[in-house]
Amino acid sequence: MTVTDARNDAQADGRADARPSPSSRDDAGRPLKVALLGCGTVGSEVARLVVEQADDLRARIGRPLELVGIAVRRAHRERPGLDPALFTTDAQALVSRPDVDLVIEVIGGIEPARSLILAALANGASVVTANKALLAEDGAALFSAAERSQVDLYFEAAVAGAIPIIRPLRESLVGDEITAVTGIVNGTTNFILDKMDTSGAGFAETLAEAQELGYAEADPTADVEGFDAAAKAAILASLAFHTRVTGADVYREGIADVTSTDIASAREIGCVVKLVALCQLSEEAADGSGRSVSVRVHPAMIPRSHPLAGVGGAYNAVFVESRSAGRLMFYGPGAGGSPTASAVMGDLVTVARNRVRGAVGPGESTYAARRVSPIGDVTTRYHLSLEVSDVAGVLAAVAQVFAEHGVSIQTVRQQGRGDEAQLVVVTHRASDAALSATVEALRDLAAVRDVTSVMRVEGDV
Ligand code: NDP
Ligand code: HSE
Repeated sequence: MTVTDARNDAQADGRADARPSPSSRDDAGRPLKVALLGCGTVGSEVARLVVEQADDLRARIGRPLELVGIAVRRAHRERPGLDPALFTTDAQALVSRPDVDLVIEVIGGIEPARSLILAALANGASVVTANKALLAEDGAALFSAAERSQVDLYFEAAVAGAIPIIRPLRESLVGDEITAVTGIVNGTTNFILDKMDTSGAGFAETLAEAQELGYAEADPTADVEGFDAAAKAAILASLAFHTRVTGADVYREGIADVTSTDIASAREIGCVVKLVALCQLSEEAADGSGRSVSVRVHPAMIPRSHPLAGVGGAYNAVFVESRSAGRLMFYGPGAGGSPTASAVMGDLVTVARNRVRGAVGPGESTYAARRVSPIGDVTTRYHLSLEVSDVAGVLAAVAQVFAEHGVSIQTVRQQGRGDEAQLVVVTHRASDAALSATVEALRDLAAVRDVTSVMRVEGDV
């Protein structure tokens, strides 16, 4: 079915007003009308590019784009270079206009973004959004609405800013079998951890610096606690494994508890601490229940030789492993108005071209419907630091606890400090459930004064 057919059906059942079909011959020169929702960090750059690059965009799309309205909260605020007559606070009226072909949503958050996108899709407009929070919470409803109206829903800017990663997963690699996607997908936390690594500074002072430099927001919760990365991980896992994964399915830990001691401990084993998003496809289960996926976001020690270890500052990178292509690395600026606008503009040109041809791009693909494993079932390696009494037999008692829980030790390092010693243990792969039980039992040992840190180790050291 083409957009035109779908529109005719939609008009017949009252979903869309009588609007000129974009692919009919009579419309050959008609501009495609664009509504922009939001004109902040990202939206203002998008608006500027739509206006400044009008001639090139027309040449690339085959039709001119016409910006017909910009919805904001404060319509009377000065917005240099943009016609004040375009601004409105009535976003609902803007997306309901019968002549709007393309809607760009860069307001962010759940509401009113969700209602506005649903209204735009129901009205027959194609939508470009950068809204990872909404896609991770309620992507299914948005994709169904796009499917119903046979229009496009594109979202390259929702994950890793300027880095092309959605289209590679959704299109370029769709003939391959992706087995893992590992990403540094939050610039703010990567800046903080990188700075802690290079300067030796603590978390609180580095967060303050990130805020001063404008990387971290006044309320940095979504970044620091891993919610932003978890939303992006849900989107990546859904695309990679053809399975619907929501933000609530993602196991999440933030970086607020990472200490300069953790960073130094990582250094001692040739690792660096990063906030990583890990999306993994399991092997076939022995019980015949098939393959499952695991999706998690947490700080981890990764070897300094790993491709993600060198990703510094506020940069992002996504490392994809697939059966046929092998290992692929995508790297670049993951945030900021201009880089994010680049991704939005790429989507805008694509959906506009589709519109002109009366076509639609790929929709949601969730046919595999794999089970999402609970964190307890996930296996990885761990780095533990313990403060113990420096007395005979402690090492044996500690090793016994690991053995009782089936957690195999790879290396142990002990450093005496008077009557106390620090024990650093790196394990072989173990399940998260077994490791948690081990830590609980260690805390009950009389000779263990404290388990000072537990961190996962990802990648081959
Ligand atoms: P901003 O907060 O800078 O801008 C939000 C815009 O939305 C503002 O123009 C604001 O109006 C407008 N707005 C807010 N509420 C409403 C409302 N109820 N009705 C109409 N307009 C409203 O956000 P960003 O540009 O930073 O982010 C936009 C989206 O892009 C988010 O989904 C974000 O997650 C995503 N994104 C952002 C990145 C970044 O680096 N900033 C990177 C990747 C994705 P007003 O101007 O009047 O306040
Ligand atoms: N707050 C996000 C980050 C913006 O720091 O990466 C990009 O999504």
